[in-house]
Amino acid sequence: MNIYPWLVRPWLFRFDPEWLHNTLIQQLHRWREHQGLRQFIHQQCTYNHLALHQQIWGCHFPNPLGLAAGFDKDGLAWDWWADFGFGFAELGTVTPQPQPGNPPPRLFRLSLDQAIINRMGFNNQGVAHLKKRLDTELAKRRIPLGINLGKGKDTPLDQAWRDYVYGFRCLKNYGDYFAINVSSPNTANLRELQAKALLEPILAALQTENDGAKPLLLKISPDLADEAIAALVDLVMTYRLAGVIATNTTTNRPRLKSAQAQEKGGLSGRPLARRSTEVIHFIYQQTQGRLPIVGVGGIFSAADAWEKIAAGACLLQMYTGWVYQGPGVVKAILQGLVERLTALNLGTISEAVGWAHRGRAV
Ligand SMILES: Cc1cc2nc3c(=O)[nH]c(=O)nc-3n(C[C@H](O)[C@H](O)[C@H](O)COP(=O)(O)O)c2cc1C
Repeated sequence: MNIYPWLVRPWLFRFDPEWLHNTLIQQLHRWREHQGLRQFIHQQCTYNHLALHQQIWGCHFPNPLGLAAGFDKDGLAWDWWADFGFGFAELGTVTPQPQPGNPPPRLFRLSLDQAIINRMGFNNQGVAHLKKRLDTELAKRRIPLGINLGKGKDTPLDQAWRDYVYGFRCLKNYGDYFAINVSSPNTANLRELQAKALLEPILAALQTENDGAKPLLLKISPDLADEAIAALVDLVMTYRLAGVIATNTTTNRPRLKSAQAQEKGGLSGRPLARRSTEVIHFIYQQTQGRLPIVGVGGIFSAADAWEKIAAGACLLQMYTGWVYQGPGVVKAILQGLVERLTALNLGTISEAVGWAHRGRAV
């Protein structure tokens, strides 16, 4: 029986959201050598099934469900995410220098909508700190780690490429893939970097630095019109990026019930689910399934996860759903996905990617 939603969550949600989040991350960091706790969490939260394994960009993903960027910005708990059942984890967003982010309060639970609004503003301890955190035994790594790169608050847009290249150069050996974040709504004008004239120099400079070594992905906003997404996909193909992460949070406020709905920032969770799935559908169609898509936005259940896989995502991420459903949700989602595969007589999750485009019922 899952006691999280009716016993644990009401108690946890009495605390300030940012305080609670920081406390969890700090405690995980402090208890990183606690083998008993690690074993307990591992037993409770992990689910391994061959049908969920995938090989993408030369990396082995034990399952398609990852932790989304923003949860562990500084990599303080990076070696826990495999024990919580995730198939990969994306650290960051990290900027070249440490920065405090926006003034609090900047993180709001919209419980009636099963959503979050955040305007954190890339609070993080900077590239050098993350490098130090990851500079421990590589053998400890059990799942792929992505690193999400951003630009500093005060870096002008036409100089932004320098920040992305700096972050990439410093962390190149520590990430299995890199996400180029040009879609957070909480750094002034950052999303303007999604325009071709500003994005091209970033992609060109990164790929020159990269020289084919690492998969680079573009994380995009759900608030773009179809034509803008199509233009971005063209750029992604031209610069041979490895994939797209769809999507970041939205600044739209689709019919919300919670009192805090009008807070400024990016909205995540259930109200984002449909739009992010639409974006996945669109990109899959545009690229005829040739571009790996990481689907993120409002995944709370196996049904939500399946919709995004069927729309064309080969990997998934979650943040808000984990907060609302608790750590047991990863295992539940993975079990549910395997049940779907079995019901449809599919051998592996790769066979299900883009299922909805083959004229089959989702
Ligand atoms: C509090 C919070 C902080 C976030 N910080 C980042 C970030 O630093 N970089 C980033 O690319 N996305 C960030 N995100 C967006 C998530 O990675 C994800 O794209 C979005 O929340 C949608 O997924 P979800 O509905 O499962 O939460 C953040 C989301 C939340 C809720």
